[in-house]
Amino acid sequence: MRVELPEYAMAYTDNGRGLPVLFVHGYPLNRQLWAPQVDGLSSAARIIAPDLRGHGESPPIPGPYPMELLADDLAAFLDALQISAPIVLCGLSMGGYVSFAFYRKYPQRLAGLILAATRAAADSPEGRQNRDHAAEKARQEGVRAVADGMLPKLLSPQTLDSRPELVEQVRNIMYGTSLEGMLGDLMGMKQRPDSTPLLAEIACPTLVIAGADDQVIPVTEAENMYAAIPNARLQILPHAGHLLNLEQPEAFNAIVDEFLQRF
Ligand code: MLT
Repeated sequence: MRVELPEYAMAYTDNGRGLPVLFVHGYPLNRQLWAPQVDGLSSAARIIAPDLRGHGESPPIPGPYPMELLADDLAAFLDALQISAPIVLCGLSMGGYVSFAFYRKYPQRLAGLILAATRAAADSPEGRQNRDHAAEKARQEGVRAVADGMLPKLLSPQTLDSRPELVEQVRNIMYGTSLEGMLGDLMGMKQRPDSTPLLAEIACPTLVIAGADDQVIPVTEAENMYAAIPNARLQILPHAGHLLNLEQPEAFNAIVDEFLQRF
């Protein structure tokens, strides 16, 4: 499905009824990331998963994509779907960075927050350099070269060894990112602010969830967020890496389902 926003038509999936739960994918992914949640959770809530600009079936708009811009897209998207009541927002990795921006701008639109495989801190100087290198590689060699280089880090060593079909699925999801989308994300993430000071102000119930074997964002980041957010709970999933919701969908869904019961 697609819905017209002021700037472009956003592609999305919308399944189930009741409490709207907005799932925001990471970099360089798209809403296919959330297929197990659309399947497994839409009997419990209304599961909504958009493709951010430049990703999947949303159009390849030139960047940069500051996290605030992506948060504004989500607010416009909710308006277009005529959802004005507070929602639960679930962001994975870059989707988590967008969730912090959304919280800063639209706290009244949030009933709850799920921070999956993400971190509050801004990029380190080395991290910023890595963004530039990745952007250069994307321009020179294309999106697929960057995606291929990232793939071994996105999944746990166990998943990489034992689930070749899932590895290929993730590769194909990444290949669905446009060059504009990849560059837009990289430049947006590079300039994102530190959200650490925000953590103590997050007033809504928050679930922090991470994979024990995440090779992109260490589990200590989840522990730090949990310690700083007043009304948070923490779940670390064993045998899961950065894409924990794909690697351990049943465990992930059970934890989210239980969290959603409180709304
Ligand atoms: C993501 O999964 O969204 C990215 O790995 C996050 C990042 O590069 O900081």
